[in-house]
Amino acid sequence: MSHKVFIQSESISFDIKPSQTILEAAIAAGINIPFGCRNGGCGSCKGKVLSGEVFCEEYQQSAMTDEEKANGSTLCCQSYVSSDVRLEIKLNKANDPLHESKITPVRVEALTKLSHDVMKMLLKLPGNSTLKFTAGQYLEFIMADGSRRAFSIASPPHQELIELHLRLIDGGKFTNFVFEEMQEKSIHRIEAPIGQFYLRDSEKPIIFISGGTGFAPIKSVIEDMIHRDIKRTTYLYQGVRAEKDLYMHELCLGWQKEHQHIHYIPVFSEPEKTDNQSIRTGLVHQAVLDDFQSFENYQAYSCGAPIVVQTAFNALVEKGLLEDEFFADAFTFAPPKNKI
Ligand code: FES
Repeated sequence: MSHKVFIQSESISFDIKPSQTILEAAIAAGINIPFGCRNGGCGSCKGKVLSGEVFCEEYQQSAMTDEEKANGSTLCCQSYVSSDVRLEIKLNKANDPLHESKITPVRVEALTKLSHDVMKMLLKLPGNSTLKFTAGQYLEFIMADGSRRAFSIASPPHQELIELHLRLIDGGKFTNFVFEEMQEKSIHRIEAPIGQFYLRDSEKPIIFISGGTGFAPIKSVIEDMIHRDIKRTTYLYQGVRAEKDLYMHELCLGWQKEHQHIHYIPVFSEPEKTDNQSIRTGLVHQAVLDDFQSFENYQAYSCGAPIVVQTAFNALVEKGLLEDEFFADAFTFAPPKNKI
């Protein structure tokens, strides 16, 4: 038996089956609920249940706190209903610059190690076709068993080959396969583009806060900005544990050197004795806090582990950032059951 979900602010409704999450039913009905990870990791699909029975169990605390849940919040990608439901959620605007996703074969053109645990993968679509996407979005590899692994696209949309940065996950089946066995020229299936992490129109200066391979979508956005001659003042804070984890450092230094409006600040959280002493140390969000009096007139974009994103959000909002000027993509770190 199906039920109905009513979106209060928009006065629209759609049908939902017991086997569907609210997000799946919304997508099937063409309703534009925001989403990122689709596995309870990023919080992009958070809404508030005004009435009805909703069950949301598999998610990360950083995507929704106990307090938020107790106050009626739910994550649409992880929520099933057992009655009609009334929901409060801000939908994406129809003019958001996002392309429809499609499933397509891709060929692995090259695999190159960027650091001891990060691999760059270049993918090519069949023939002369290219992927239409917005800088900052991600794709999903579709495995033979139907399971999926999500990775941010690190290349800008004007680049022919699709670039990914894959970090080796301890015990992660897919990333171990990539590091140990995957062959160049092998063919795989992906769905792309997906996600709502992209640069919003504004004149405000931008603060990017990334952790580890959270750098990938930010690289895509910055290279796209350079390509489109967008000269908003940009601060890139790149947090890694130690120097051995820092990759594409020269590229970022090059951006800073060639573009006066780009400022690059790498930060080591657990530096080793032999690491470059001129690089700042501490937690990446703390470095950002130390550098600004107020975030009132800024936009902030954060990618990385949920704890990095959540801490950055709390800290910046406390110091004046408007909540809806903070954009995040924490999907790269799936809950343990979906380990990549
Ligand atoms: S899309 Fe639901 S938590 Fe990320």
